[in-house]
Amino acid sequence: MSELLKARRGGSLRGLARIGGDKSCSHRALILAAMAEGETFVNGLSDCEDVQRTVAALFAFGCTIEPQGDGWRVRSGPWASPDTQIDCGNSGTTARLLMGAVAGMEGVSATFAGDASLAKRPMRRVSEPLRRMGAEIDEGDTLPLSITGRRLGGIDHQNVPASAQVKSALLLAGLSTDAPVRIVEPIQSRDHSEIMLAEFGATVVREDGSVELGECRELRGTTIEIGADPSSAAYPILGAAIVPGSDVTVLGMNVNPLRTGFVEQLERMSAGLQLSNESVKSGEIVADVRVRHSPMQSCHVTSELVPAMIDEIPALAVACAFADGESVIEGLGELRVKESDRLGALVAGLTACGVAAVVRDDSLHIFGRGSVRGGATVSTHGDHRIAMAFLTLGLASEEPVTIDRAEMIATSFPGFVEVMRGLGADIA
Ligand code: S3P
Repeated sequence: MSELLKARRGGSLRGLARIGGDKSCSHRALILAAMAEGETFVNGLSDCEDVQRTVAALFAFGCTIEPQGDGWRVRSGPWASPDTQIDCGNSGTTARLLMGAVAGMEGVSATFAGDASLAKRPMRRVSEPLRRMGAEIDEGDTLPLSITGRRLGGIDHQNVPASAQVKSALLLAGLSTDAPVRIVEPIQSRDHSEIMLAEFGATVVREDGSVELGECRELRGTTIEIGADPSSAAYPILGAAIVPGSDVTVLGMNVNPLRTGFVEQLERMSAGLQLSNESVKSGEIVADVRVRHSPMQSCHVTSELVPAMIDEIPALAVACAFADGESVIEGLGELRVKESDRLGALVAGLTACGVAAVVRDDSLHIFGRGSVRGGATVSTHGDHRIAMAFLTLGLASEEPVTIDRAEMIATSFPGFVEVMRGLGADIA
């Protein structure tokens, strides 16, 4: 993919969108398979770079991952200490979940490192509660960090701010102990780990606002089917919502309610969303999602709604730019510590495209006028979701939009340009 990409307004977006498997579920399927007795078959694994980082890390720990038919066969360890540091690249999920997995593995030690973006992201939120369980981890808030696996105790942890990565790290660490492991969540984060642990045979006790590991903590290999990634699907869905005349259906998307905040919000702001063919795959709900263009209303999103759309705020901000009036999205402090400072990147990109936007405390205010000028080169700050959001904006703005770098789109959605072009988008 060339460094610079330009998106311009052309015809409507129409057709079926086939999107790769959900990234969060893909990481979890591989890691749980690598911790399970026996073999696991994974269908629908994401081919994105972040998941490749987890594959490479698990190889380094001694696990085998091979193609089998249309999917992948995973055979677990025994886990061994890698010879070199684990390079997690841009992937926070690889780093944080594997820190949890290794923390309770006696005799295994590893050093986790990341790229320039990941090396700035906070890790104490994982290492501090792991240390309370008895884990041996370097002091310090950022990668690189070394861990030596040991016998762990239990924990009762308040997961604030809501983080599925922190919760998952503690659940994975807790598999190695019999002690009580409980995580309390005032606002629930995505529950793919809980669902998948149960698929692998572990008992997970879920009550309103908390999750606890039960008696059975041994995992057995199984077959896991992964639905299409809603965070990648957000861009064809957004494109269909803002480009006049569009009609797009995303096939087999994961519609876990803790991931559908963006499509639900879009439904409140425009008229054209429809779900069909619902089914359950490996404990997760999947469905086809049809989106048709219709005029966009402005919105007010309160903070408790944000975790279910945390990765889709760039897409939602673009939808707000096409609405008529002021939109407010509250509770966005976590966006400052994602792959870039997404609040800063969004305000700068929207402003460059002629849309007034400001941040007040942790809230993003966007002053839409029903149409967007565009006509700018937007700085992505090396962030895949900022890149995809502004290219999609360029499909509906009066003048084309260029992004300064494109190669990092493969972090989460390597097929982005092909999928969008297949629907009729002019991106070159
Ligand atoms: C993820 C959880 C979220 C999300 C990230 C993936 C996961 O992060 O932003 O892209 O797979 O658990 P936090 O746990 O930091 O909210």
